[in-house]
Amino acid sequence: GRKKDLVGKRVVVTAGPTVEQIDSVRFISNPSTGKMGFAIAEAAVERGADVTLVTGPVALTDARGAKMVRVSTAREMKAAVDESFPSADIAVFSAAVSDFRPRTAFDRKLKKGVDDEALSRIELVENPDILASCGASKRAGQVVVGFAAETNDVIDNALSKLSRKKADFIVANDVSRGQGFGADSDEVTFVSASGEQHLPELGKRELADRILDKALEFLKLGLET
Ligand code: C5P
Repeated sequence: GRKKDLVGKRVVVTAGPTVEQIDSVRFISNPSTGKMGFAIAEAAVERGADVTLVTGPVALTDARGAKMVRVSTAREMKAAVDESFPSADIAVFSAAVSDFRPRTAFDRKLKKGVDDEALSRIELVENPDILASCGASKRAGQVVVGFAAETNDVIDNALSKLSRKKADFIVANDVSRGQGFGADSDEVTFVSASGEQHLPELGKRELADRILDKALEFLKLGLET
């Protein structure tokens, strides 16, 4: 294990999918398992940090030693993050947030033959971008880390996310070959204003530590200036 180099630091992590109800029995979501975010939270706890893990619905048991906040929707996730981000030193946004949600969540089951109009035209509205809003309100001494799962132009897309969302670095992941969702290992590239750093394929726990190493580098840089 690594040394306790995060003692006294507050770390907030988002993980998992969000779930956006269409009606009482249907929803929009994605296959995120939360493994990456849970691994980051557990690694941060082991390194001595005070950790809050905000997660969408996943099958994983609580990250030992972390403050767990279990949510469903993007708006609930944002509300939870808004509570812990202001006092955080490091924030890692690994959740796969639904970009859109149905405008109306019907509190009964929509029925074929009765509600065909509503079923065939589910109107979607944009969800808040949690990472972008934290990036925009980031103060000196805070480090913000985003993820980018891309199927093409991986680095270019990560660079545009870096500036659009004001993250310190982006963990870019080429998911064109099925890598990413649900896997136990990953091969990623760290993309920051100072360049790209390609990592070999690593187990998610080792990758979690590499991400925290990189965040800590940024934290120290920020404290020097
Ligand atoms: O734009 P895209 O969804 O690909 O950006 C991915 C990054 O932004 C991830 O770090 C993800 O957790 C974060 N994100 C977010 N809130 C959203 C959408 C994405 O925090 N509504």
